[in-house]
Amino acid sequence: MITKLSVNINKIATLRNSRGGNTPDLLKIAMDCERFGAQGITVHPRPDERHIRYKDVRDLKGILTTEFNIEGNPKEQKFIDLVMETKPAQVTLVPDNTGQLTSDHGWDTIANKDFLIDCIANFKKAGIRTSVFVDPDIKMIEGAKAAGTDRIELYTEEYAKNYTNNKEQAVKPFILAAKKANELDLGINAGHDLSLENLHYFAQNVEGLLEVSIGHALISDALYFGLENTIQLYLRKLMC
Ligand code: PXP
Repeated sequence: MITKLSVNINKIATLRNSRGGNTPDLLKIAMDCERFGAQGITVHPRPDERHIRYKDVRDLKGILTTEFNIEGNPKEQKFIDLVMETKPAQVTLVPDNTGQLTSDHGWDTIANKDFLIDCIANFKKAGIRTSVFVDPDIKMIEGAKAAGTDRIELYTEEYAKNYTNNKEQAVKPFILAAKKANELDLGINAGHDLSLENLHYFAQNVEGLLEVSIGHALISDALYFGLENTIQLYLRKLMC
C-alpha cells in the first residue's frame, strides 16, 4: 500500500509574507512539489492570514493537479465558505484557536459531536472528503466515526517527541489507534512533526496509513538538500 505524501506549504507563505512581495513564489513551489513527486498539497489558512492567504487557496485550486487538502477550523464561517467555494479533494477539520502558533490538540469528538456531524455532512454533500484531526485516543476515534467522517488525521507530535527516547513506546498508541480506525472503516492520515528521522518507522508500523502531511521538517530539510531531493527522500521513507 502506498502512503501519499502531501506537502504542507504554509512555511513557504510565511517566508514570502515576511518581505511583502512574491518571493518565494508559492504557486510555483506548489507546482514544483507536484513535479518532484508529491502526491498532494496541503494548506492551513488561518483567520489572520499570517501565512496562507485566502487568495492563495483560490489560486492554488486553479493550478494543482494532485490532491488538494485544506486544513482549518470550521467554527469560522469564512473557512467553511472558502472550502465550499474551492472544493478541494479533502478538508481536514482542526480545532485551532485563533492566533494559535500551530495545531496542538485533536478534536474532542464527543463534546463536539453535533457540531461535527453538521459540518461533515455539509462538506460531504458538496463532494469533499472529510478528515478529522484527533489524538490517538480510541474514544475520540469512535467519536469521529459517529460524526460521519471519511478519515481521521492522527496528531503525531507525541510520537515525534518520544521517538528518540523509545520509538516502540512512542508508536504504540498510534498502532492501537490505527487498528481501531481500520475496524471502523475509517481512512487514516497523519501529521505534525513527522521528519526524515521518524517517518519510516511510523509508516512501517501504522497499518493502513493513507497519507501524511508534512511541512516544517520537509521545508527545513530542503534548505540543505534542495526541494526535489528532499521530496524524493521523504517518498523513499514511505516505501515500506
Ligand atoms: N497536520 C495539521 C493538522 C497541522 O496543523 C500541521 C501544521 O500546520 C501539520 C499536519 C503539519 O505539521 P508539520 O509542519 O509539523 O509537518
